[in-house]
Amino acid sequence: MKQSALFNIEGHVAMVTGAGSGIGLAYAEVLAENGAKVLLTGKTPERLEAATSRLRAAGCDVDCQVLDIADTDKLRTTIDGLAAKHGRLDIMFANVGISHGRGFLVDPNGSLTAIDFEGFRRVVEVNLTCNLLTIAHAARHMRPQKRGSIVVTSSVAGLTAEPIVSYGYAASKAGLHNAVRQAAADFALDNVRVNVIAPGPFLTNIGGGRLHTDKATAKVFADGVPMKRVAHTDEIKGLALLLASPAGSYITGAIIPIDGGSTAILPGRGT
Ligand SMILES: NC(=O)c1ccc[n+]([C@@H]2O[C@H](COP(=O)([O-])OP(=O)(O)OC[C@H]3O[C@@H](n4cnc5c(N)ncnc54)[C@H](O)[C@@H]3O)[C@@H](O)[C@H]2O)c1
Repeated sequence: MKQSALFNIEGHVAMVTGAGSGIGLAYAEVLAENGAKVLLTGKTPERLEAATSRLRAAGCDVDCQVLDIADTDKLRTTIDGLAAKHGRLDIMFANVGISHGRGFLVDPNGSLTAIDFEGFRRVVEVNLTCNLLTIAHAARHMRPQKRGSIVVTSSVAGLTAEPIVSYGYAASKAGLHNAVRQAAADFALDNVRVNVIAPGPFLTNIGGGRLHTDKATAKVFADGVPMKRVAHTDEIKGLALLLASPAGSYITGAIIPIDGGSTAILPGRGT
């Protein structure tokens, strides 16, 4: 099979949450640039409109809609509206992730004994509950079609302890992993695949854009990676296209790190 057929998503109907910047924007770009009809959703209208105009000018079939995934009624009506408009839904990237506070290695308030449980609850609500709802609402359209690919963004902080991030972030990302495995088994006979991309450090606006502005924090993250650098968001596009396209047709329930080797080696062993 030729590469063009393997990765063909021409005309597929796709939605990305948290698509205004960073990793979500990279997902939207790679889907749109490869011929999918993409709905970019997110919280910030200016960012969504700028990205949509840029992609349209490049000939892509894209639209955007303001959507805070914590507004669970609007989450459902947005997904239902997209499926109704096109008569199908092929691809969903459940990408939103938020953090609250920092981990115990960099902030004493990040210790469990000092934790702000309100902040913890908010993070778990958005990262775990609202992303699971996104999966559920998408799957309601995909299962009767007997086709669909759902990709969830978690983090390497869901795979191992990560003292730089908060408890809420680490716990919600780990929770997503087994929820995705469960959903993959649940939907397997309907040919609806559900997978996780677990990134290491990528240069985005997460945490207020600290990786852009705070050289010391950027160095801490880069030093923890065997490749000794943080990633550019373009570097997530290949994996995203693999999982969304026919090339990934037998991949489901997978948790795939994309982390410069961080989770492959014990800390301090030659890195
Ligand atoms: N950047 C990294 O180093 C890194 C590492 C591991 C995992 N991740 C994960 O990648 C995903 C994307 O984050 P990013 O790094 O691109 O950050 P980002 O801040 O650049 O992008 C996140 C986007 O989501 C939007 N958003 C936030 N809350 C929302 C909500 N409730 N509803 C809808 N949209 C919302 C923001 O407006 C923003 O546009 C997150 O799940 C994050 O946890 C990022």
